[in-house]
Amino acid sequence: MKVTMVGTGYVGLVSGVCFADFGHEVVCVDKDPGKIETLNAGGVPIFEPGLDALIAKNVKAGRLSFTTDLTAAMQDTDAVFIAVGTPSRRGDGYADLSYVYAAAEEIAGLIKDFTVVVTKSTVPVGTGDEVERIMSEHVSRDLFEVVSNPEFLREGAAIDDFKRPDRVVVGTTDARAVAKMRELYRPLFINETPIVFTERRTSELTKYAANAFLATKITFINEIADLCEAVGANVQEVARGIGLDKRIGNKFLHAGPGYGGSCFPKDTLALVRTAEEANVALSIVSSVIEANESRKRRMANKIVAALGGDVHGLRICILGLAFKPNTDDMRDAPSLTIIPRLVDKGAEIVAYDPEAMDEAKKTLPDIEYADSAFRAIDGADAVVIATEWDEFRALDMRRVKSLLNAPNVIDLRNIYRGEQMRGLGFSYTNVGYPKPKET
Ligand code: UDX
Repeated sequence: MKVTMVGTGYVGLVSGVCFADFGHEVVCVDKDPGKIETLNAGGVPIFEPGLDALIAKNVKAGRLSFTTDLTAAMQDTDAVFIAVGTPSRRGDGYADLSYVYAAAEEIAGLIKDFTVVVTKSTVPVGTGDEVERIMSEHVSRDLFEVVSNPEFLREGAAIDDFKRPDRVVVGTTDARAVAKMRELYRPLFINETPIVFTERRTSELTKYAANAFLATKITFINEIADLCEAVGANVQEVARGIGLDKRIGNKFLHAGPGYGGSCFPKDTLALVRTAEEANVALSIVSSVIEANESRKRRMANKIVAALGGDVHGLRICILGLAFKPNTDDMRDAPSLTIIPRLVDKGAEIVAYDPEAMDEAKKTLPDIEYADSAFRAIDGADAVVIATEWDEFRALDMRRVKSLLNAPNVIDLRNIYRGEQMRGLGFSYTNVGYPKPKET
């Protein structure tokens, strides 16, 4: 099949490349000539493990190309995907759909034969209807069908998530569109991936409901972690104990500094706004948003408390800045809330992240950056593990101790064991564990 992918952001680029790898002929389009130039020169504008190799392979095979020219890209296309950004609108939290609608209008003007127009961007319920209305002003209604096909991929695991998803959700009841979408995802039938065909609005809402539910799960375990600390219980064992119940499931039960990223914060907010408009109270999702925001703020207090209540003049090493490992994405990362608070309290910050430092410098230009974990640790009064990158999981702790001014480790991702760390002479604080017994 011939596929046009409009938007080479995270979702667009990964989806386009993976569709090409499925064997389809894919043209990725972006208005930003810089991005297209980078891609055509063999570069990748985002950090995603495995993506560079997959792009090179499919470009070489002649199935994948990049252009700024939508007219050329849409020649004989079977399906056009709209994968442009839907950022939170400043001030009100609604999803900003102006890029989606502009793309729809442009696409409509170029349609000649029956084309499936698929919204891949996360869009609020009813967006497909509006896209259809806009397009109908420019092209005959029987020449296109607007389909919702939300993307559930995670940054850092995007290729695997795309190629081996738990399910694919497709929102359309039009038989021609169903046939095209089946053909597009045919390679997934081989591994028996369930494809949920449903009505368009239901599909749009499914994406938000999924993200809101996952954000709720994380926030729930984070609050249980606080309770564990207060009453002397162990959150990882609670998570295991509840997660083995199949009705609950063991995923997304890792306590930590609060969720961040490009999806959960934006989508939970947009869902609540949609519900408000529909006069429905989403009290659980609203509480999740509030609890997660306040958690990120409280993490700074947790660090200060672990360091005796005053960090004035202390040099604190932050390991990990991105909102999670294997990405350079800093959007809504807990580190962006924690670091300025520590600076306000008089701490001197030195940070290291394997991939996200260039991004971090845009928001946090005034802190010090080191080019390796050990350089960041050298001479610090405490180490805070803010993101669980693999390279932080097995640090030579004897060396860490010898480099530190004072042996303080605050592990916001629970990647070390308390007994072991205390055995090595560290003052060690993590999330959701009983306080160490006084000796
Ligand atoms: C998420 C969804 O998982 C994905 O399906 C959707 O398409 C986009 O949003 P992503 O934002 O890439 O993906 O990352 P994810 O791995 O889901 O993590 C989100 C945040 O939750 C991170 O800040 C992570 O650290 C945090 N998290 C996740 C936890 O704190 N605990 C967990 O158990 C899981």
